[in-house]
Amino acid sequence: NQKSDFRGKKVLITMGPTQEAIDPVRFISNHSSGKMGLAIAKAFKGRGAEVFLVLGPVFLQINPGDFSITAVKSADEMYEAANKLHPKMDICVFSAAVADYAPAQIAPEKIKKQDSEMSILLKKNVDIAFELGKSKRPGQIHVGFALETEREELHAKAKLDKKNFDLIVLNSAREEGAGFQHDTNRVKIFSRDGRMIDSGLVSKTEVGELILDEVKKTPVWI
Ligand code: PMT
Repeated sequence: NQKSDFRGKKVLITMGPTQEAIDPVRFISNHSSGKMGLAIAKAFKGRGAEVFLVLGPVFLQINPGDFSITAVKSADEMYEAANKLHPKMDICVFSAAVADYAPAQIAPEKIKKQDSEMSILLKKNVDIAFELGKSKRPGQIHVGFALETEREELHAKAKLDKKNFDLIVLNSAREEGAGFQHDTNRVKIFSRDGRMIDSGLVSKTEVGELILDEVKKTPVWI
């Protein structure tokens, strides 16, 4: 039965943006809406999997009965939640747009307006997919994303290797109707064993189903 081909599988999905606090009223973030991650989550749920969302701050309607949800804000919190779930998961999908940098210190009070320029020192954030990739166990499948603006395939393939992914889903931040916010996306999915498929411009729902089909073609799938 196609509808239950993921029954018995536990799936972790990181999704949405992260927010990195500057002071009690401000943060650094990005344009991720969480739509891509939710579409993947619904596809897995619809095909029988048990789905665990590690959810950055989003404004989406999510039925809490459908998923096990851990809501987080910062990259550090997202890492902590994902790391806790990771050992029990069969499949992990890293669709979150994690901030690569965060303010080195969070000001305890609202920062006052300066006379002219001001600067904020940033520290490097943990790379969640990279860290969990180091402890991927045999049989576990990791699916990464790459959001690029230039030399896209080259960068995506480098991330596939570096982060120990089985599949990487490349989307372009430059392409019309693709990437952040849209209900549509166009992805190229590269597998570690050298396959590539191009979705064309389709709904994020269809991209979700396509990712599941590709997961089943990985050599690790049982
Ligand atoms: O949420 P939407 O509005 O629907 O938009 C969807 C999306 C564009 C956010 C999504 O399709 C997407 O591309 N997500 C990944 C965005 C991203 O941060 O890509 P990246 O190339 O910077 O990161 C590469 C991979 O490492 C990703 O799997 C990312 O989740 C992961 N990563 C990156 C940095 C970090 N500190 N920790 C990570 O786990």
